[in-house]
Amino acid sequence: MNLSTKHILSIRDLTLKDIELILETATNLQEISKRAVKKVPALRGKTVLLCFFEDSTRTRASFDLAAKRLSADTLTFTSSGSALSKGESLLDTVKNLEAMNPDLLVVRHKLSGIPHLLAKNINCPVINAGDGTHEHPTQALLDLMTIVQTKKKVKGLNIAIIGDILNSRVARSNILLLTKMEAKVTVAGPATMIPADIAQYDVKISYDIRKIIPEADVIMTLRIQREREAECLFPSLREYARFFGLNKETMQSAKKDVVIMHPGPVNRGVEIAPEIADGPHSVILDQVTNGVAVRMALLYLLCGGKEGVE
Ligand code: CP
Repeated sequence: MNLSTKHILSIRDLTLKDIELILETATNLQEISKRAVKKVPALRGKTVLLCFFEDSTRTRASFDLAAKRLSADTLTFTSSGSALSKGESLLDTVKNLEAMNPDLLVVRHKLSGIPHLLAKNINCPVINAGDGTHEHPTQALLDLMTIVQTKKKVKGLNIAIIGDILNSRVARSNILLLTKMEAKVTVAGPATMIPADIAQYDVKISYDIRKIIPEADVIMTLRIQREREAECLFPSLREYARFFGLNKETMQSAKKDVVIMHPGPVNRGVEIAPEIADGPHSVILDQVTNGVAVRMALLYLLCGGKEGVE
């Protein structure tokens, strides 16, 4: 089976069958990362170009590992040390890299829409690894995989997404994906961090996390995005932590089997206290592990991998 789309730019482009295929493929490929020799020949001879114009730890490392575990070659391009500093445009840069014949481009950029622009101008498949405040579709897919693994379902679950919804591409992709999967999503945070256009999504809104925590099966807390000047949206980090942070006190009323998620990087003591981030309900590192499997699945499906996973 193939995906219905050539690129992974937005969760909006994925059908339910696509999502099912990605999760099934990721689940099958996950076992490779547990082997003594973590490599199969599925994408031997393919080249994956990783263009990260914005910093990343998890996404960049997991795409790189995912490609290598499938035997693809990777070329990592970052802005620093490149000819961008000499005035070369982004499009010229990527078109020059495309002239070296990669089979797939992974791109992260601080501006929303850059992956879409590149997909229109180059021939190989493009995966959006996070564009500005717009979307982070592969994060949402790995989050979905983590929820399904932990709760054995997603339909009907009460999922609370707490924090800087306005600036969060993770929130946007998760809202689109989780509502598509028929979860009941509530977004919560300070009024200044709830986007004005939130009514277009099928979600409930809350400004008081203490009211929604008791009902939640899954709580996804988001990072305060200091690089997007999110600190201007509330009086102080201390105040944010007091009203919207997950800690022993706010988690007292949570369900016994609640699942705590965070896309990383974590601001410990701000959106989540260390004892909650490292506690028994946290699946934060499982999310990272599943990130490799989901990205292996996407590379495999978009680069035309048919076999070679034994
Ligand atoms: N979750 C996430 O996108 O993390 P990185 O910024 O480290 O890639």
